[in-house]
Amino acid sequence: MTDVMQVAEAQYARGLEGVIATESAICKIDGQNGKLYYRGYSIEHLTTHHTFEEVTYLLLQGSLPDPEQLKKFSAQLRAERAVPGIIVDTLRRYPRSVHPMEVLQSIIPYIGALRREEGRAIDISCENSYHLVAQFATIVAYIYRIRLELPIIEPDNSLSHGANFLYMLNAQKPTDLAGTAMDVAFTLHAEHSLNASTFTARVVASTLASCYTSVSAAIGALYGPLHGGANEQVLEMVQNIADPEKAAEWVNNALTNKEKIMGMGHRVYKAMDPRAVVIERLLQQLSKSLPHHNDYPILKVVQETVRNYMEKRNKPIYPNVDFFSGAIYNMLSIPSDLFTPIFAAARIAGWIAHIAEQYSNNRIYRPRALYVGPDPRS
Ligand code: COA
Repeated sequence: MTDVMQVAEAQYARGLEGVIATESAICKIDGQNGKLYYRGYSIEHLTTHHTFEEVTYLLLQGSLPDPEQLKKFSAQLRAERAVPGIIVDTLRRYPRSVHPMEVLQSIIPYIGALRREEGRAIDISCENSYHLVAQFATIVAYIYRIRLELPIIEPDNSLSHGANFLYMLNAQKPTDLAGTAMDVAFTLHAEHSLNASTFTARVVASTLASCYTSVSAAIGALYGPLHGGANEQVLEMVQNIADPEKAAEWVNNALTNKEKIMGMGHRVYKAMDPRAVVIERLLQQLSKSLPHHNDYPILKVVQETVRNYMEKRNKPIYPNVDFFSGAIYNMLSIPSDLFTPIFAAARIAGWIAHIAEQYSNNRIYRPRALYVGPDPRS
């Protein structure tokens, strides 16, 4: 056995699969039983009993807020929803063809620099960056409206985070159900342990770069279709199928041709993704109020057909959160290229929690590569 093979067997995990790279007290995933916990609270409990603002507080501070703490934190976040005029002007200057994720990635360090100009600290204290949780949603809504040459809508601080986002997007107050659905979607996407974007944020933070540059790097990682983009592809699939009656045939053909069905399966969950359970319930409710949409009936036939096909092959796979989230956003009239930016607008809470945790017990990340190039030569 060569040295390279020995090292490979002992230490090399392609894609870092199975490698434990840090300790973290933020999120626990129990993939075998389909459970997800933020700071010890199950995702079912959090989405049923708490708002996105409360969950953000939990992720950032480690415990749920008492009424006084919530009042203060909520007021702080809502006061930060509006973005400075210079940011709005800058958003207007991007070329129209730019992807919203490229705008987000590039504008975050600029926001940090502006705050530094104002004399605010933007060093490695994440508390100075909590305003990003409030402002991500505003920026995403403004990117959309500027692109359509529509006037921007000032945030309405009487609305929840999710409802206000829909209001800034569509210039009309959403129904209670739509507002709740958006708030729950933000909570479901707020955190998911050491995924690619969160790991990226921690790697950059471990060099003691600022919270803003760490977040910007995380946005770059989330942009890739293998991470943030699956729900967009699920919606594309639903639109291609178009009719629930045709869904089974479409899926069987795809599986026979060894194609992947987007939104199904997960590297960590070997049972139903608990986020998919929560989001499916919302989708059922929204579907009842918007009966002309047939996304949900199509998805149910797809799910059932995949299950039958895979169970026969002893490889059961289940829907993940992306299977239903695209359909929810579609029903809320959100265009599909905003799905990943919305994911970012939710995950910002988890990213900041992880960056803060990294700073608090830092060691720079520096793995090695298995050298497979030529031997020394002249
Ligand atoms: N459609 C069809 N077959 C699938 C599948 C899917 N979505 N997901 C997994 N399978 C198959 C695999 O090809 C594999 O079959 P094989 O043994 O014949 O090769 C088997 O099911 C077991 O797959 P598993 O090892 O559990 O999946 P993975 O860890 O390699 O991949 C994903 C996990 C998420 C990358 C994969 O399920 C996938 O590509 N899903 C679609 C994309 C998606 O929804 N991504 C968002 C994730 S949150």
